[in-house]
Amino acid sequence: MSEQTEQKPAPPAPGGAATAGQKPATKQGEAEDTAQVLLMRRRLVWASVWGYLGVNFLMFLRFFFPRALFEPKAVFSIGYPSDFNLGVDTRYQQSHRIWVVRDPGRLFVIFAKCTHLGCTPDWKESERKFKCPCHGSGFDSEGINFEGPAPRPMDRAHVELDATGQIIVDTSRLYIRDPIMGRDEFDNPGAYVVV
Ligand code: FES
Repeated sequence: MSEQTEQKPAPPAPGGAATAGQKPATKQGEAEDTAQVLLMRRRLVWASVWGYLGVNFLMFLRFFFPRALFEPKAVFSIGYPSDFNLGVDTRYQQSHRIWVVRDPGRLFVIFAKCTHLGCTPDWKESERKFKCPCHGSGFDSEGINFEGPAPRPMDRAHVELDATGQIIVDTSRLYIRDPIMGRDEFDNPGAYVVV
């Protein structure tokens, strides 16, 4: 019996050096790696494209849902003249940005906006004046400016009595006194109600 020598596959060369028999397998591996990288890149590009389109689509939808500012109604009732004592009433300052002022014989509504740059002054009961916290303008109890940079009195809102005798205020209609422009509407009908 002749001695048969078993052909064993040669071990891989140290350091990964390819032998003649392994060359095709390595090339195939490289091709697969390249294909994987290309696939990843393609996925990344498509993800970016879809992301970009998605954001734009959301922005487009956003136009149909405008950001609403819930401002108080411009026209509203504040009750009856008998609900107000003489002097300045601040109960509607927070809700409607007005003060109600009752004098002997008339009632009017001051729109609570400083005529300098538009801040909301505070009513200082102890000093009987409105004081603007922004730049220090002062207004007397009728809203007439007497100190600081405010150039004119605060405006007054339209008031009228409805059929039931309640006072209806309309802050979209303002009466202005502006000495520089020679304008004085404080005694106009609608600038006050007789009480
Ligand atoms: S905004 Fe009132 S003093 Fe300037």
